[in-house]
Amino acid sequence: MPRVVAVTSGKGGVGKSNFVLNVGISLAMMDSRVQILDADLGLANLDVLLGIRPHSTLEDVMLGRADLDDIVIKTDYKVNLIPGCSGTQDMADLSQEQIYNLVKKVRNVSSQADCLLVDTASGISTGVISFLMAVPEVIVGVSHEPTSLTDAYALIKVLKKNGYSGRITMFSSMVKNSAAGHAIYKKISSACQRFLDTPVGFLGSVYYDEKLSRAVTDQVPAIVRFPTSNISRCYRVIALTLLGQNNVETDYDKFWARLINMIMKGSRPKTVKAVSFNGNSGNGSIENTIHNILDEQRRTRFLLERLVAKIERDVDSSGSSRGPAM
Ligand SMILES: Nc1ncnc2c1ncn2[C@@H]1O[C@H](COP(=O)(O)OP(=O)(O)OP(=O)(O)O)[C@@H](O)[C@H]1O
Ligand SMILES: [Mg+2]
Repeated sequence: MPRVVAVTSGKGGVGKSNFVLNVGISLAMMDSRVQILDADLGLANLDVLLGIRPHSTLEDVMLGRADLDDIVIKTDYKVNLIPGCSGTQDMADLSQEQIYNLVKKVRNVSSQADCLLVDTASGISTGVISFLMAVPEVIVGVSHEPTSLTDAYALIKVLKKNGYSGRITMFSSMVKNSAAGHAIYKKISSACQRFLDTPVGFLGSVYYDEKLSRAVTDQVPAIVRFPTSNISRCYRVIALTLLGQNNVETDYDKFWARLINMIMKGSRPKTVKAVSFNGNSGNGSIENTIHNILDEQRRTRFLLERLVAKIERDVDSSGSSRGPAM
């Protein structure tokens, strides 16, 4: 069974999907057998980045409309793609027994792979947290924007508050050089260490490179389209760092069961399910739930902006004073 790693972020648009694709291909070029799984149920786009159109998805397997073998797409770049969900179909709740039977079936889809890289949606209130809780390794993408930093911290905080015990690492995205990438890492890691008592590892930086946009437009992965570009080098370095890490134990049945659950819930007409900081789902009307989420996000953003400002001041003055408990 493969090593399972999910890539996520607090704020959207930081480069997760391109990371999964290009780091996945880099690993495959280093002779790993890699599968990339598109679990961004709202905006699945690994297929678009690859210029392919899946006939069936995991959701179709769940609905009994496709066989497992039908959904694994061999790409031209040595990685296999598993499309998660088209988000267009109605799905009734599955019973525990049906989920159990499905898990037994779908877990084999990755049995031959060394590494399963999972692309997820961003954010703390998208139902993705409950899925991430079952993933042994979570990589958080963070850009230099203050909201990206604060949202990344919020995401890690929610994971920890819910008892996450896997490995958390991050990459800095769209940075101009490695010093800038490292500065982002210092901010996140010192905040997580200080206020959450949680170590966050650093995988490296992905430089800002306009060649990525060109590769996206051409629907060819950057690492293939521009193999000697700065950004391709970044992806390769990160792939090497990943290879150097030791494996984290995985509960495969739990992982697949949570993925099936996420697809089941994500395929319905959208109702928002809040994940609050103490891990309780919101009760009451949808309006209340949405208000709670918005309030919580506003509060969190406010607190985190203060936190980031404080850490920046601390780093600037190299002071060692302790900040307010968050
Ligand atoms: N390192 C980079 N250099 C230049 N542009 C980048 C970089 N990373 C991302 N981008 C730009 O951001 C766009 C979004 O990237 P991508 O789809 O990988 O982000 P994402 O985090 O998966 O987004 P979402 O949260 O919507 O799923 C790319 O199409 C590209 O234009
Ligand atoms: Mg994406």
